[in-house]
Amino acid sequence: MINKKSIGIFDSGYGGLTVFGSIADQLPDYNYIYFGDNARAPYGDHSYETIYQYTLECVEWLFAQGCPLVILACNTASAKALRTIQQKVLPFKYPGYRVLGVIRPTAEVIGSYTVSDTIGVMGTRGTVNSESYLLEIHHLYPEIKVIQQSCPMWVPLIENNEHVNEGADYFVRKYIDNLLEQSPDIDAILLACTHYPLLIPKIAAYLPEGIQLVAQGEIVAGSLKKYLANHPEIESQLGKEGKMQFYTSGDDQDFNKHASIFFPKEVVSTHVDLKV
Ligand code: DGL
Repeated sequence: MINKKSIGIFDSGYGGLTVFGSIADQLPDYNYIYFGDNARAPYGDHSYETIYQYTLECVEWLFAQGCPLVILACNTASAKALRTIQQKVLPFKYPGYRVLGVIRPTAEVIGSYTVSDTIGVMGTRGTVNSESYLLEIHHLYPEIKVIQQSCPMWVPLIENNEHVNEGADYFVRKYIDNLLEQSPDIDAILLACTHYPLLIPKIAAYLPEGIQLVAQGEIVAGSLKKYLANHPEIESQLGKEGKMQFYTSGDDQDFNKHASIFFPKEVVSTHVDLKV
């Protein structure tokens, strides 16, 4: 059998490229297909039903491209769509296909980042309101207190390339203050959104000493590496030519331009019409 299949990487838009960057660093040999649903992004404020519907359509598109494994490199989609896809769709419609998210692997290691057993979680409204991090972390670490803060202005600032400018400082401070006001014991902050690593220089400059920032890319990449080692039935289907393909439901030229903020290599994408 010729193994030519790719790992699918899905995000609502560009943000998943931060996670994909870490995956490609740690697992450079595999073939990848990245799909960004830019035409319908951002997902952060959409309802559960809408996010589930959109995510499922994109996952099915990646399956149709020959991806036996799809990573939801999007916190909002992982929070609102993953469980239903894993439990209600895959076993009946796509046995043998796998979909993994970013919340579980992050929750699994979060205990090693806190001494005070108090973690701050910053994400979109969708991620925060889903309480997925609260549930996953409490399940694995009942002793850890999780304090959440939604940051609805951060994604638009980054997508408009304003995150490096002075205007962004106001919203960085506002959400950090709102989070830290909820507890003096927070000693680690999880950036639970694909976009937020781009704000690290500003967040780190404002953060009081002794509080650690946790980005997800490397955590998710490390977890995928272990998953592939433990699942030869999936791993053996994958091509290893180091190919990367990029697709977007939005404008391809726009995608290529914006992608450079999120991804270290040149991105040449193709537009896909999902016909919804
Ligand atoms: N990718 C999303 C996440 O990680 C952020 C962008 C959006 O709201 O669509 O939550």
